[in-house]
Amino acid sequence: MRRILLIGGGGQVGQELQTSLMPLGKVISVTRDDLDLTQSDRIRQVIQTAQPDLIVNAAAYTAVDKAESEMDLAKSINAAAPTVMAETAQQLGASLIHISTDYVFDGRKNTPYTELDTPNPIGAYGKSKLLGEEGIRQVGDRSPNFRYAILRTAWVYGSQGKGNFAKTMLRLGADRPEVRVVADQVGTPTWSTEIAKAIAALSPHFLDAAAPSGIYHFTNSGITSWYDFAVAIFEEAEAIGFPLKLERVVPITTAEYPTPTQRPAYSALACQKISAILQTSPPQWRQSLRQMLTELYSLTYL
Ligand SMILES: NC(=O)c1ccc[n+]([C@@H]2O[C@H](COP(=O)([O-])OP(=O)(O)OC[C@H]3O[C@@H](n4cnc5c(N)ncnc54)[C@H](OP(=O)(O)O)[C@@H]3O)[C@@H](O)[C@H]2O)c1
Repeated sequence: MRRILLIGGGGQVGQELQTSLMPLGKVISVTRDDLDLTQSDRIRQVIQTAQPDLIVNAAAYTAVDKAESEMDLAKSINAAAPTVMAETAQQLGASLIHISTDYVFDGRKNTPYTELDTPNPIGAYGKSKLLGEEGIRQVGDRSPNFRYAILRTAWVYGSQGKGNFAKTMLRLGADRPEVRVVADQVGTPTWSTEIAKAIAALSPHFLDAAAPSGIYHFTNSGITSWYDFAVAIFEEAEAIGFPLKLERVVPITTAEYPTPTQRPAYSALACQKISAILQTSPPQWRQSLRQMLTELYSLTYL
């Protein structure tokens, strides 16, 4: 039976991966309690003990704004740790699937970013994630037999995990009549369940078949702004029966909502490369949003 080590099994995507990876073999899931990713020796030890055929890394430092003042910690978790995972996987003959982000791009394009576009992160979080990508790629360059996929995704939300934009909107909309949301940042909301399904579908290509190592973009289909995403969240939530006090969503500019870090104005990702391998396209973002809210409603109220 294949052995899959899931690192970050307690996170938003990690919890979904625990379910989606199960049919592929024995899943050994570790959370921060089992493995602190700032400890390189522990990473090596946990991997060597697990003897995996495949490592899936869903753990990351994901506090985008806080990363500006905690760059060393962000780099340790997002750059040094995945590099150690790659080195150890290569030594054991295991493959690695690692998750990265649309925030490696600067957002100056106005058509979807492909895997061939040059990253140029504008914030500390994106910089730390790009260093992680580079660390894994360098192991692959030194050892061509090492098989890895770096799956860049974007705007992740789901019913699991500590919090995300959709859950924040529902909380605010339950409490107040007005919510103000940035309308000049564009991308693709992506359901954690779809990411976990895509990783499970990609995994056999890195266990047995010969999918090329490298970067893969994966998001739901379609493009929207945070403002239009918020409007859709409230429309769908109201139709499902979530209790809402909200009367209006007000579009604002990024300049009207200052944050410690800059975010790309445009970060849609072109997903044709992974779609060709999986022979399917991801669902439209609004369809997944409806499914997630239905799931969240039954988890919360039924
Ligand atoms: N969320 C997004 O919008 C988004 C967008 C694009 C890409 N991504 C990428 O998608 C992947 C999954 O993100 P997510 O949304 O599932 O994030 P998440 O819910 O924050 O999960 C990240 C996990 O990493 C764990 N972690 C953090 N520091 C750790 C440490 N020092 N040692 C061990 N574990 C540690 C966290 O544990 P604790 O819960 O204990 O902190 C958490 O379980 C990440 O690679 C992220 O960069 C996310």
